[in-house]
Amino acid sequence: MPELPPVAPLIEGETVRLRPLREDDVPALVDNCRDEQARRFIPVPLDYTADDALTYLNHTVPDGWRTGSSHVFAVADPADDTLLGTVGLHAFRATTADVGINLGPAARGRGIGTAACRLVIDYAVEGLGLRTLYWHAFVGNEPSVALARRLGFTFRAELPAFAALRGEPVDVWLLSLTIDDGGTIATPGA
Ligand SMILES: CC(C)(COP(=O)(O)OP(=O)(O)OC[C@H]1O[C@@H](n2cnc3c(N)ncnc32)[C@H](O)[C@@H]1OP(=O)(O)O)[C@@H](O)C(=O)NCCC(=O)NCCS
Repeated sequence: MPELPPVAPLIEGETVRLRPLREDDVPALVDNCRDEQARRFIPVPLDYTADDALTYLNHTVPDGWRTGSSHVFAVADPADDTLLGTVGLHAFRATTADVGINLGPAARGRGIGTAACRLVIDYAVEGLGLRTLYWHAFVGNEPSVALARRLGFTFRAELPAFAALRGEPVDVWLLSLTIDDGGTIATPGA
């Protein structure tokens, strides 16, 4: 793997921008993490506060970049740079990592998730040399799996109690995407 960047690089797409999180993102980050879907499908604190957001953007995310344990980007609207959500790579191991995304309700259903994940996958493959990416969705998170499939991920397994949500076990759908030596998505059985 090449040397890891110390902070999130700016990545410009046509419909989304990936950039570092900033303190003026706090109100939107709080709203996004207090949303019902986020509470149900992501292990965020139930009553996410501005302090939680500040800890996340001043400590958790920079620590991830510095140590190489995770690479989290803000997903922003290129028109006005407002925060739409977050997307990132987690649990790096050899040529593999997990993709994670959380968008605020107003950003959903407009192709933002597809565009943001495509940018992060390109970054993972071309920037970091990763070859296999994994997608974990809590069982029942149909929008998440629909997005993963649209990105080219293949369903692999349902894993009982693989994750935890506020101390309770949660079943997980696991999907994966493998990039072949030519740089394109390898379709199993094709
Ligand atoms: C799961 C999640 C990331 C999906 O993101 P999203 O931005 O809504 O996904 P997209 O907009 O790319 O796709 C959603 C729909 O918009 C449609 N769409 C509309 N305009 C589009 C465009 N320009 N390009 C692509 N798709 C478009 C897609 O076809 C899709 O419809 P379908 O599912 O009926 O086929 C988002 O719902 C979310 O953040 N949820 C809460 C947190 C969460 O569950 N995160 C995942 C944890 S594993």
